Amino acid sequence: MEKKIRLDKYLADLNYGTRSEIKANIKKGQALVNGEKITSSDYKVLPSQDKVMYMGEDVSYVDKEYYMLNKPQNVVSATRDDKYQTVLDLIDQKKRKDLFPVGRLDIDTEGLLIITNDGMLSHQLLSPKKHVSKTYFAKVAGKVTKEHISLFKEGLKVDEEFQALPADLVIKESSENESEILLTICEGKFHQVKRMFEAIGCKVTYLKRISMGSLKLDEALKLGEYRPLTKEEINLLKEGK
Ligand code: URA
Repeated sequence: MEKKIRLDKYLADLNYGTRSEIKANIKKGQALVNGEKITSSDYKVLPSQDKVMYMGEDVSYVDKEYYMLNKPQNVVSATRDDKYQTVLDLIDQKKRKDLFPVGRLDIDTEGLLIITNDGMLSHQLLSPKKHVSKTYFAKVAGKVTKEHISLFKEGLKVDEEFQALPADLVIKESSENESEILLTICEGKFHQVKRMFEAIGCKVTYLKRISMGSLKLDEALKLGEYRPLTKEEINLLKEGK
């Protein structure tokens, strides 16, 4: 059943300001619920039914938001950072203040990143038990060979502490100096793709995630662009597809 929410929290969740600013404005009579002036912040609203107006503006409530971002380089997968722009800074249409990236891509990795405030979905996608597949396109310094495909398929021993699960490697192009590959992994260890190639003596020079579970990076999105996920995309992810 839908929960009632305190009026000040309802507005703060939707990015209308800090809780204390909102409380002060509510006290001054700046909030109407169903046309009636409400001056106490602990008044409870039912988001799906109550019509809220704040500072003269109709408030439209959103409970969950879901976006697909084509992450560019030099942007960090975090909600705040002192030095770099964050992936959240790029989502300028966001309504809620509690969005976060589902997992991390390195600062120099590009591509598909889901941004949401749905903690359950995030957990489902990141849980090591669920083995959600992730496909990456990479440029690699060095020659990737058929032998590497077998090694990856068997489960590569990356180092003393990390034995990777079987992974699917497809060679798109391969010469003495550079190879282009697609790699699908079902886990998400720290710097996993880079470490897997390092273990076979190759260095990843470019990395881009192109899919996560059933979700594919929309090719219409340029680097730094994003779009809301469709209902169908959200449902497929929730179904674990
Ligand atoms: N593997 C990496 O090495 N880096 C990423 O950003 C994602 C997967």
